[in-house]
Amino acid sequence: MSTIKVKDKVFEPYLTAAEIDKAIHRLGASLCEDYQDKRPLFIAILNGSFMFAADLFKNLPIEAEISFIKLASYKGTKSTGQVVTAIGLDIDIHNRHVVIIEDIVDTGKTLNAFLPQLRHQHPASLELVALLNKPEATEYTIPIKYLGFSIPDKFVVGYGLDYDGLGRNLADIYRLKEEQ
Ligand code: IMP
Repeated sequence: MSTIKVKDKVFEPYLTAAEIDKAIHRLGASLCEDYQDKRPLFIAILNGSFMFAADLFKNLPIEAEISFIKLASYKGTKSTGQVVTAIGLDIDIHNRHVVIIEDIVDTGKTLNAFLPQLRHQHPASLELVALLNKPEATEYTIPIKYLGFSIPDKFVVGYGLDYDGLGRNLADIYRLKEEQ
């Protein structure tokens, strides 16, 4: 794999589709074991997690539901600090075993704003599965029970993650090349 250009920036290869697939198999196996008889409700956070959510859900051969919400706090390569709910939750989570599906936990701002709203509705349990986490960027500590990869604090695109709306369709994950 070689470098690619997304909009005005150059990105270098970081995680291959095969590595992502392997992590998803591992996460799927853990989730199946823990939620076998609980009929969990997965809530995927759009837009970034759509690809991860679809692949993860295919790896969950148990009785399970999925729904989607849309939250956003990013513009370009920086968080705006404001979390906006663009599409809300259409399902009652009271007494349900809820698992949030997130593409990446960066500062933790998005989930820090959203998780209390969910807890307020008294789910039976509430956990998080995230493909990526940037521990160096943490501002709000969010416990991630199921994690794909811990990565350095560098902007990434691909596999659902975007740079200004672009790059989501890449099958692999790329990271911003230094010194541009
Ligand atoms: P947080 O609120 O700072 O944790 O950011 C969470 C959201 O920001 C993620 O769901 C992504 O949509 C977006 N985000 C954070 N880091 C990146 C990145 O490196 N590339 C693309 N999107 C990102």
